[in-house]
Amino acid sequence: MHARGLTASAARSALRRRSLHTLKPLPYAADALAPHLSSKAIELHRAAEADLVAQLNTAIAGTEFEHAALPELVAATSADAAHARVGNLASEVWNHELYWSRLAPSPDAAPPEQLQQWLEPEFGSFDGFVDRFASRARALWGSGWTWLVLDGSLTPRVVNSFAGCHPLSAGMTPILAIDLWEHAWVLDYPGGRDAYVRALLAHAVDWAAVSDALVAAANGAPESAKLRHLVSLSAADMKKLRSVVIDHGTLDLSEDLSLSKLHLLGAADPAADAGAGAAVHEAAAAVARAPPASSVAEGEADAAAKS
Ligand SMILES: [Fe+2]
Repeated sequence: MHARGLTASAARSALRRRSLHTLKPLPYAADALAPHLSSKAIELHRAAEADLVAQLNTAIAGTEFEHAALPELVAATSADAAHARVGNLASEVWNHELYWSRLAPSPDAAPPEQLQQWLEPEFGSFDGFVDRFASRARALWGSGWTWLVLDGSLTPRVVNSFAGCHPLSAGMTPILAIDLWEHAWVLDYPGGRDAYVRALLAHAVDWAAVSDALVAAANGAPESAKLRHLVSLSAADMKKLRSVVIDHGTLDLSEDLSLSKLHLLGAADPAADAGAGAAVHEAAAAVARAPPASSVAEGEADAAAKS
């Protein structure tokens, strides 16, 4: 044996024995979420979670997954039947970390405006999102999780997962996770998990943290995905347009105007000022009726040749 350390063989044994993953401490006291989650329920939940961490470490010790970080481990194994046990354990450990990190004692009930802006196009309103989330949770058959995720086109979606499937392995970025396994809710909500989901969404989810995570996930997406998202937003905004304001006038788009003509009108309309809407309208109509510039030039050339 080496005088100052382990032999290579002993070092490998120690590496296999060490805890590869650990139970992350809660960012608040175990009684801080009461009455929405009691300290007793959280203590029992944490004990079950600690057991999952221990099982995961045993399952991956000495394997190709021994040194993988949890998200990579989940993405690599959760949809692979050959590694179902590792995938399920890694998923559950990672899911719980996300779950606790999005809860907080006495968070602001009102979601940040930025979060509302992300959710409204898909869900109509923040309340619409909450209803969709609760509805999706009710629809989960058996145990699993309900999520707010960002999909590959940066659209927020509410999805469920259960053993063998996971948002990470589907290319989605999890933003919020609610644990729907019975151990998460039955002690405090013996009447059913719908009340548990509603209570967490109304009183315990840290919407500021959710908003920050969503924006960070969007900004971390590939540039091509961000560009496609911006274009889709622009297209959606264009559909809302009923009129275009140029300087102080309003251009009525009932005329068939091309973008190039709009550009010409803007450049050739120095007289547009307050109250000049009618003049702009007439100018726009004139531009719309006018033949293409190239035709005018050819016509003038013909007239000059004949004179
Ligand atoms: Fe759980």
